[in-house]
Amino acid sequence: MYRQLKKIYKRPEVYSRYTAETLWTQPHLANQMLQVHLDQDSALASRPAEAIDRVVAWIDQSFELDGKSVCDLGCGPGLYASRFAERGAIVLGMDFSKNSIDYALDHAISNNGSIRFQLGNYLTDPLPEQQDLVTLIYCDLCPLSPVQRETLLAKIRQALAPDGKFIFDVFSTKAFEAVQEGVSFGRNFMEGFWSENDYFAFQGTFRYEKETVSLDHYSIIEPQHSWEIYNWLQYFTPDKIRAELEQAGFGTIEFTEGFDVNPSDESTFGVVAGV
Ligand SMILES: C[S@@+](CC[C@H](N)C(=O)[O-])C[C@H]1O[C@@H](n2cnc3c(N)ncnc32)[C@H](O)[C@@H]1O
Repeated sequence: MYRQLKKIYKRPEVYSRYTAETLWTQPHLANQMLQVHLDQDSALASRPAEAIDRVVAWIDQSFELDGKSVCDLGCGPGLYASRFAERGAIVLGMDFSKNSIDYALDHAISNNGSIRFQLGNYLTDPLPEQQDLVTLIYCDLCPLSPVQRETLLAKIRQALAPDGKFIFDVFSTKAFEAVQEGVSFGRNFMEGFWSENDYFAFQGTFRYEKETVSLDHYSIIEPQHSWEIYNWLQYFTPDKIRAELEQAGFGTIEFTEGFDVNPSDESTFGVVAGV
């Protein structure tokens, strides 16, 4: 028992495993994540409708969505994609969660086929070409390792039209300051979030100071098997994201205030990168 607990609580090597696909696509978890995504009182997977409206209005005002091609990566249930289409954009939403894509398809407004949803992994599947705008919203660059970010940024750079823009947000180092290491556990921990079966789960939160990375590590112990989820988050300074964008070949880089409901919240900031 002591050895098992020691293993569960051991600090993993930074970026030692990537489990995002399990979190978003394993059938029980995909359902849970979709519920969380649509829950207006939860900020775990998306922002409340009011904040999404505000972000979309800002993008429209800044980049005139009408007639523009927009690729929304990690579109989830299409909360941004459908609003872009309502404002006249020709939209492709991509996500690797079938559950979310099915929801997006069921709820998309049908305006002359100007919105499409594609089940795909943006790290490994081809992206469309000549896009006026590519969006990656709700800090979705942050769970990726440096190698994965390098791959994705190069693909996005390639997907943009000559005057195209990549619009996204990231967690700031201000948000890292608030991360506290700790352990929690329980039977059917997080109200049955992790499984329909009876289970015990442990959550360990770790800080990686040098890398400004945090990890929420979940160990789920079911009657027949045990499994783990690793939720990494990279926190950025403007200089750090600028360096990664320049490395990927982006020429213009501008920062905006965060996309949150409360503009004075400094836990995230927005970035607009051009070719
Ligand atoms: C935090 S949610 C944000 C969703 C949406 N942008 C929003 O703000 O409402 C992240 C989404 O990205 C998707 N996702 C994560 N990694 C992905 C990948 N490698 N390829 C495609 N989709 C991915 C997840 O399935 C999930 O729907």
